[in-house]
Formats: sequence, structure tokens, C-alpha cells
Amino acid sequence: MADYDFDVLVIGSGPGGYVAAIRAAQLGLRTACIESRETLGGTCLNVGCIPSKALLHASEYFDAAANGTMAKMGIKVTPELDLPQMHAQRLDAVKQLTGGIAFLFKKNKVEWIKGRGAFVDAHTVQVGERAVTAKDIIIATGSSVTPLPGVTIDQKVVIDSTGALELDRVPQHLVVIGGGVIGLELGSVWRRLGAKVTCVEYLDQILPGFDGEIRKESNKIFKKQGIEFVLSTKVTNVAVSGDTATLTLEPAAGGEATTIEADCVLVSIGRRPNTDGLALEKAGLTANQRGQIEIDHRFQTAVPGVWAIGDVVPGPMLAHKAEDEGIAVAENIAGQTGIVNHDVIPSVVYTWPEIAGVGMTEEAAREKGEVKVGKFPMAGNSRAKTNHEPEGFVKIIADAKTDRVLGVWAIASVAGTMIAEAGLGMEFGATSEDIAYTCHAHPTHSEAIKEAAMAVRGKALHV
Ligand code: FAD
Ligand code: NAI
Repeated sequence: MADYDFDVLVIGSGPGGYVAAIRAAQLGLRTACIESRETLGGTCLNVGCIPSKALLHASEYFDAAANGTMAKMGIKVTPELDLPQMHAQRLDAVKQLTGGIAFLFKKNKVEWIKGRGAFVDAHTVQVGERAVTAKDIIIATGSSVTPLPGVTIDQKVVIDSTGALELDRVPQHLVVIGGGVIGLELGSVWRRLGAKVTCVEYLDQILPGFDGEIRKESNKIFKKQGIEFVLSTKVTNVAVSGDTATLTLEPAAGGEATTIEADCVLVSIGRRPNTDGLALEKAGLTANQRGQIEIDHRFQTAVPGVWAIGDVVPGPMLAHKAEDEGIAVAENIAGQTGIVNHDVIPSVVYTWPEIAGVGMTEEAAREKGEVKVGKFPMAGNSRAKTNHEPEGFVKIIADAKTDRVLGVWAIASVAGTMIAEAGLGMEFGATSEDIAYTCHAHPTHSEAIKEAAMAVRGKALHV
């Protein structure tokens, strides 16, 4: 057998790559991870999940003080924005968490090879001067912002998600191109801090991929908060002159163009897999038409010994999906059976309220067969009501014949936390009856899930 430098070599240290590396090392494999950034943790820890949540959390407090929510609870404050401090606490969170990965690498004896990796062959990756060999190689190179053709990101007037995390001013008018997760989360941050926000979305509704009713209700809630939506419309040009951008908008179905002006434009129209510069062909691989690396259910590519996980492979671009794939691929390489159930991957939008779902939308479930749907409004949940959080509802979709839960969707202040219960239930093949007869602590937002399950079977109690 060939003598390799490592048993496992991971390219990329995002939630897919770093988790795979640590798990492989825990399983006794000699492991290294190549990362070109200055810090470990990938998009998620450096410019994604973590810094965006740091701003969402801080701006939520600001908004609660500014919009009268705190006054309602007997706390009178007039907030003053200290944007440098808000950014400092964001950077501190990033520093602590990325440093934590470096610590875990050391603790588990994972070698961090700094630099950009490119394949030499299926068992060798060149990093600077060094050719590193390994028996198994995991591609976990993640994704980057999809550019809008003809539009230049200058990170001042026209920004992407990274620019939106670092703005040193509150824009007067922020136009968000794309009503997806990034547009709504980062649009919410700057709306809360005082910007007028307009969101231009190509489709006839925001949040593609989410349950139809949830999409409609979210739109209503964001509108009430002051975000303006221009739906069924595409942005065809952004011209910048000084500090002002002029956007050309066209109806998605075709028609007369109009223009709007803004002092800041966020391009958030999706992300695309990172395969440029990897020299995939030298390993015997090609990306598919969408730029993704195809894999089998074990995360192995078409070339034995080369594996791929996370945003660079088909499926939702989510950190927890990448992490679970990281664990599974390491276990598969170690000769164990690593599995990810891709039917039960939760999605959460961390706005206020949060929007979450797992499993099938009602539309998709109805296409497959007969379903029963139960809904429960958060206004009927004692905890949400007491906390002045009556917005939203929980919706459970179950198979009409077997009662098995097919999908759960929620809009609620803590929907992201609530949805974990639904995922666990679905993983165990729960029926709506199982959930309805599970005792839920009172008073918690999670009781709304129990009540929605009761509604599937007839009637909820507190409506
Ligand atoms: P990445 O995290 O993208 O990591 C890949 C790493 O590989 C990068 O560090 C890159 O530098 C490195 N790399 C690439 N090519 C090479 C090479 N040739 N050599 C060496 N290194 C290389 N998901 C959630 O689940 N929840 C959220 O709240 C959430 N919020 C987000 C907010 C924003 C603003 C953004 C942009 C994304 C967010 N995401 C969120 C998505 C999440 O960040 C990604 O799904 C996740 O990071 C994907 O993990 P990954 O390991 O596949 O790749
Ligand atoms: P997205 O795919 O969620 O949304 C992009 C939106 O832009 C779509 O609704 C699309 O119809 C629209 N669009 C495309 N071209 C357009 C045009 N020319 N004019 C107007 N609208 C246009 O992509 P987004 O928001 O950039 O996020 C990328 C990925 O990052 C997501 O897929 C998500 O997986 C991940 N992410 C996850 C988060 C979370 O889990 N909370 C938070 C942030 C990002």
C-alpha cells in the first residue's frame, strides 16, 4: 500500500470540513485540513451564521427599545446606537468561535495546513510549495456569493452579505435584491437600526422553498415591520454614481422598466459552489451544470477515495447539513456507516419572529397524496402572549392514512428552537397523535406544537 502523509485530508474548514476533520481524528485517522482563510470555521463562523446572528441579536434589542416593546413591559429607554460597539461584539463572537476550532484541532491532533489547495491527482493536493498526499480526500470547499451579471460589488454602495455585516453606517435607503434568507435576515438588521428597506424579489413571493402559507404570512409580518416588497420583479442593472445607486427594475414577466434610487444595495440572489482553482479534473472529477460535485449516499464522488460534503454538493446550503455530512463522511471513511437523513433537515430564518420548517411543505405533500393539516396560532399560546409575541402559527402536515408527520412549519419568536422537536419526532417516524399525547412543559412556546398536533386530529384546546 502506498505510504501517504495522512489518512484523511480535508480541503476547507467550514462546518463541513472542520467537523469531518475532528471526527476523522477522533476515529483514529491521521488527519489534516487545508484552509486558505486566516481563521478556521469557513463562511459560517467568519462571514455567515455567527456574525449575522450577532447583529440580529443586538439589533433585536435595539428595535425592542425603539419600537415600544420594552416600554410595554415597564422599561422606558430611548436607545442610542453605538455601531462600532455592535461590530466589536460581532467580531469578538467570531474570534472566540474561530479560535475555538483552532483549539479543537490542536486537541484532536488535526494539522491545519494554511493555503489554497489544488488537486495534483486523486491522492495529492498541492498547497503552496507542499504536495500533501492522503489515502482519502474530502472536498469541503463551500460556496460563495452568486454575482448579479453586470453588477460590481464595491462593498460600499453595492454590497454582498459580507459587506452587509461590516457596514460602518446605517443606510438611508437599502435596496435588497432577493427575498431569500440573507436578504430578509440582513435587511431586518439594517431596518431595525433605522434604514428604509426595499426588497426586490424575482418570484411572486419571498422565501422560495418554504411552505406557501408560511411565505405569505412572513411577507405580511415583514411588511408590518416596515420592509417594502417589490415582487415578481427583476433587477436588470445597478448604476452607481458617487454615493447613489440607480437600480433598473423590470417585471419578471416582461414589460416596462422603472428605476429606484438607494444609497446602499445588497445583492443576495443565492450562493454558488466553490470549485474554481481546485483542478478537479486532475483528480478525475468534473462539476455538474450547477457547479456542484455529485456524490453517492455515502458522500463518495465518482472517484474512489475522493469524497465531498457541504455547500459544494447538491442539497440545501446550510451549516447543520454540512456538519452532519462531515460526521457521516468521516465515519464512512473509517469503515463505519455514516448516514444523513436529507428528508429531515430543518431550515430556520433568524428574523423576528423566526421562521422555521422541517420536512415537506403542504404543497409538496399534497402532490404525493392525501394529507391532514393542523394549525395553531401563537396568539393562543400563553407564553407567547405573555411575552407580547402573538405573531405567527405552527402548522403540522400529516399523512391522511397513517397520521405520520410529513412536515412542520412555524413562525414564532423561538421557532428555530421549537423546530428541533419536530425534527426529532419525524426522525423517529412520529404520528401527530404521538406529538399530541406527549406532555409539553407549561408555559412554553413548544406547547403550540402539541396544540397543532391536536388540531390535525380534530381540535386544539386554546382556540
Ligand atoms: P464553507 O463554510 O463555505 O467553508 C469552506 C471553506 O473552504 C472556506 O473557509 C474557504 O476559505 C475554504 N476553501 C475553499 N476552497 C479552498 C481551497 N481550494 N483551499 C483551501 N481552502 C479552501 N447556514 C445555517 O445553517 N444557518 C445560518 O444561520 C446561516 N447563516 C448564514 C449567513 C450568511 C450571511 C451566509 C453567507 C451563510 C449562512 N449560512 C447559514 C450558510 C452556511 O454558512 C453554509 O451553509 C456553511 O458555511 C457551509 O459549510 P461548508 O463547510 O460546506 O463550507
Ligand atoms: P436564496 O436562494 O435564499 O434567495 C435568493 C432570492 O433571490 C430568491 O428568492 C430568488 O428568486 C431571488 N433572485 C434571484 N435573482 C434575482 C434578481 N435578479 N432580482 C430579484 N430577485 C432575484 O439566497 P440567499 O438569500 O442569497 O442565501 C444563500 C444561501 O445561504 C441560502 O440558500 C441559505 O441556504 C444560506 N443561508 C442560510 C441562512 C439560514 O439558515 N438562516 C442565513 C443566510 C444564508
